[in-house]
Amino acid sequence: MQNILEISDLEIDIPMKSGILHAVRGVSFSIEKGKTLCLVGESGSGKSLTAMSIIGLLPPKGIKRVSKSRFDGQDIAGFSEPQMQDLRGKAIGVIFQDPMMAFNPTMTIGRQLEEVYLRHIARDKTKARAKALDLFRKVGMTQPEARMGQYPHELSGGLRQRAMIAMALMCEPSLLIADEPTTALDVTMQVQVLALLRSIQNDLGISILFITHDLGVVAAIADRVAVMKSGQIIEFGEVSQVLKAPSQDYTKALIAAVPKVKALAAVHAAVAEAAHG
Ligand SMILES: Nc1ncnc2c1ncn2[C@@H]1O[C@H](COP(=O)(O)OP(=O)(O)O)[C@@H](O)[C@H]1O
Ligand SMILES: [Mg+2]
Repeated sequence: MQNILEISDLEIDIPMKSGILHAVRGVSFSIEKGKTLCLVGESGSGKSLTAMSIIGLLPPKGIKRVSKSRFDGQDIAGFSEPQMQDLRGKAIGVIFQDPMMAFNPTMTIGRQLEEVYLRHIARDKTKARAKALDLFRKVGMTQPEARMGQYPHELSGGLRQRAMIAMALMCEPSLLIADEPTTALDVTMQVQVLALLRSIQNDLGISILFITHDLGVVAAIADRVAVMKSGQIIEFGEVSQVLKAPSQDYTKALIAAVPKVKALAAVHAAVAEAAHG
């Protein structure tokens, strides 16, 4: 199985008044094509810095070193900012916890989806609109035509999240980076969005780097899981293996903190079965 992404020995330092914070220390991982890797760990363990650094988004003073950073066979470690910008909207889609961060509040949602297409794919408004509508349907937006003309604040939280997922898929990326995309949602909505991501993955064959602090979410969405603590990966493996037989006390504590692991694992199984059957 080929890897879409390979990262080796990633280090991120952040100079602080009190000294240098070694926020990420020697992190290595890879993601197979069409699979989902979850980065899981407590808040502050370095998950977001790890993910965002891959696409060139570091805090202003952050210092990054990496011995290997390969995406789809390309060495992206030395990419310039314009090259990174091109990679971000196009081959790598990104979704965040807060969709309001992804959207411009003064532009309709439909227009924003179209802009992504016009910028990265082709200056063809008809095709851009058709693609946006197609994705709105795919992500389960109710009344997709009417939604296209609405502003971000006019949508509910759940619909905004779906719109952000649609926007991230506009250029048919081969990797989706999702940083706590369901953390702000209630449990029902959370399950719906996870099931949606899973079925989109089955349809489009994309890889997902999924970040969460919640092992219940990991159980529902991951193929493999990397457990992060204090800037390091301390446990790594197939999700079923890590959940069944965690080797680290830290992982055991994360599992113990989640009563709904079983429920979400059942959702995972149901979604996978529906997609394959
Ligand atoms: N812009 C920043 N400036 C200073 N420190 C930061 C910044 N972003 C993150 N950090 C620090 O780096 C560490 C890892 O942060 P982060 O990757 O956001 O953690 P996580 O996503 O796992 O919650 C934390 O100690 C955090 O306080
Ligand atoms: Mg984070």
